[in-house]
Amino acid sequence: MRIDIITVLPELLKSPFEASILKRAIEANLVEVHFHNLRDYTSDNYKTVDDYQFGGGAGMVMLIEPIDKCITKLKSERTYDEIIYMTPDGETLKQGVANALSLKKNIIVLCGHYKGVDQRVRDMFVTKEISIGDYVLSGGELGAAVLCDAIIRLIPGVLGNETSALTDSFQDNLLAPPIYTRPRDYKGHKVPDVLFSGNFPEIEKWRENQAYERTKSRRPDLLDD
Ligand code: ADE
Repeated sequence: MRIDIITVLPELLKSPFEASILKRAIEANLVEVHFHNLRDYTSDNYKTVDDYQFGGGAGMVMLIEPIDKCITKLKSERTYDEIIYMTPDGETLKQGVANALSLKKNIIVLCGHYKGVDQRVRDMFVTKEISIGDYVLSGGELGAAVLCDAIIRLIPGVLGNETSALTDSFQDNLLAPPIYTRPRDYKGHKVPDVLFSGNFPEIEKWRENQAYERTKSRRPDLLDD
């Protein structure tokens, strides 16, 4: 898979890809991540990427021209499955969205800044709009990092244990059950006995029940879906 991220602030985005699982995924060539600085696609000396809104109103708007130049160049090099715009008014990111995107070959992620992009960018180029939650960030970069992390960990081979993404919270619309490791008794707080029973069907049943109870008490909305 290849992800091209278009941004005015590449430095804000790079570090999540330079550590841990994402770094290993890139080094193992399971995913390629490329950053494109919009200022490299400007044509004036000031490298202008934004301007005032037509009609008045507070806040700057990202210009269509540098975005067009960048996307058009990328599209001339390969075919993209999705061109995603990170925006608080997009579809809320859920596990299912990440699952679907992890199966794509090439995607572009466009990070908005200031008040956002000129509407014509959305009309002309964008195929999908994603929000990471009902709050406003100062730019799409942190949202793009969240989206990329959620996608990349699902690519086969990225996680050491192939089954671990499948047992995450939200896969099957359930939260994950409690987990424990050493010591068995910590200051009187004991690990449930069933986990030492050696009876794996019993342990599985316990985990399923815990996942269900946890979901029912914390996120009953998930059980309605
Ligand atoms: N840009 C600003 N706020 C955002 C959000 N909640 N999700 C994605 N991109 C954003």
